[in-house]
Amino acid sequence: MDHKINPVDVPKRKLYTGEEIPVVGLGTFGSDKYTPEQVSNAVFGAILSGYRLIDCASVYQNEDRIGEVLQRIFKESEIKREELFITSKVWNDMHREVLRSCEKSLKDLQLDHIDLYFVHWPFPNYHAPGCSGDSRNPDSRPFSINEFMDTWKQCEELVDKGLVRYIGMSNMTIPKLEAVLPLCRIKPAALEMECHPGFQQEELFAYALEHGIQPIGYCPIGSPSRPERDRTSEDVADTQMAEIVEIAEAHHVHPAVVCLKWAAQRGQIPIPFSVKEPQYVSNLKCVTEDPLTPEEMEKIRKADKNCRLIKGQVFLWQGASGWEDLWDLDGKITGA
Ligand SMILES: NC(=O)c1ccc[n+]([C@@H]2O[C@H](COP(=O)([O-])OP(=O)(O)OC[C@H]3O[C@@H](n4cnc5c(N)ncnc54)[C@H](OP(=O)(O)O)[C@@H]3O)[C@@H](O)[C@H]2O)c1
Repeated sequence: MDHKINPVDVPKRKLYTGEEIPVVGLGTFGSDKYTPEQVSNAVFGAILSGYRLIDCASVYQNEDRIGEVLQRIFKESEIKREELFITSKVWNDMHREVLRSCEKSLKDLQLDHIDLYFVHWPFPNYHAPGCSGDSRNPDSRPFSINEFMDTWKQCEELVDKGLVRYIGMSNMTIPKLEAVLPLCRIKPAALEMECHPGFQQEELFAYALEHGIQPIGYCPIGSPSRPERDRTSEDVADTQMAEIVEIAEAHHVHPAVVCLKWAAQRGQIPIPFSVKEPQYVSNLKCVTEDPLTPEEMEKIRKADKNCRLIKGQVFLWQGASGWEDLWDLDGKITGA
């Protein structure tokens, strides 16, 4: 069976410059469950299957392996660097050394530029990869406009130097964006945000679009393999939501695929993760065929459970009352 999806058939979204990028990308966070080699093998297979957008980050600890498979792709296939759109992110412990962090990612990925470089979290609060959910770093502090803008200015300099083409923000809120957007010399091209049927973030999504910022939806399937530290007993499983299951049955697809069709049709760019070929192939193919009906889209819109899965509690500072403090729920920047 030919698994190849022609990248031309994959719908696109426009960035503020008019440049088009694919409506689905591949996530590369192995969730402490999959090895760097499994993830990089998936990147290799996914690109050969038709993926052109790959979402990387230094903290995923696999950029060096991904760099090796990118080189293999350039050597063994007709696919050229400029056909790919590769993202990376500066981790929380490198906010004062963004250039060094970006250079390390470039070296690991074996690239001379990154297409879109994110500030992964808007706090310099560090936690060790794989730490437990209740671990706290005593040096952690609340969001600071000045500190964030210092990090952002360093990102802008990466654009000036030609090391990255676009810069983006991640895990932001409307109050934080309101505070920092007027201070940006180079605007964010994209906002990476948690987004799936059980957590649609309608206001933040609309805010991003109104400001010409492309939403990129992470955990688009509700991250069923996420680490234990990111699980609570109240969490809703998107693939078990009645509305999703019903629509999946009507289309004869897995509920995961319904989450992705919904995301792509709504307007965010989902970046599903999978190391399994049948899964990652169907995750891209599904946006090229058999769309959801307007009624199905509306049914999913109404099914929002406002259930955040990645609560970020490991980034809390001493004195914070709970993970909600990271997300400015009362419309003001908490603790600033
Ligand atoms: N900016 C940020 O702070 C941030 C935070 C989190 C994630 N991300 C990015 O977003 C990406 C995606 O998020 P995620 O990996 O947490 O969650 P996800 O994409 O929602 O879920 C991935 C899991 O869904 C299952 N799956 C995938 N395709 C499937 C299919 N067709 N049918 C059935 N099951 C399927 C797989 O589970 P099994 O492996 O068990 O089969 C896979 O491990 C990450 O890899 C990362 O690149 C960014």
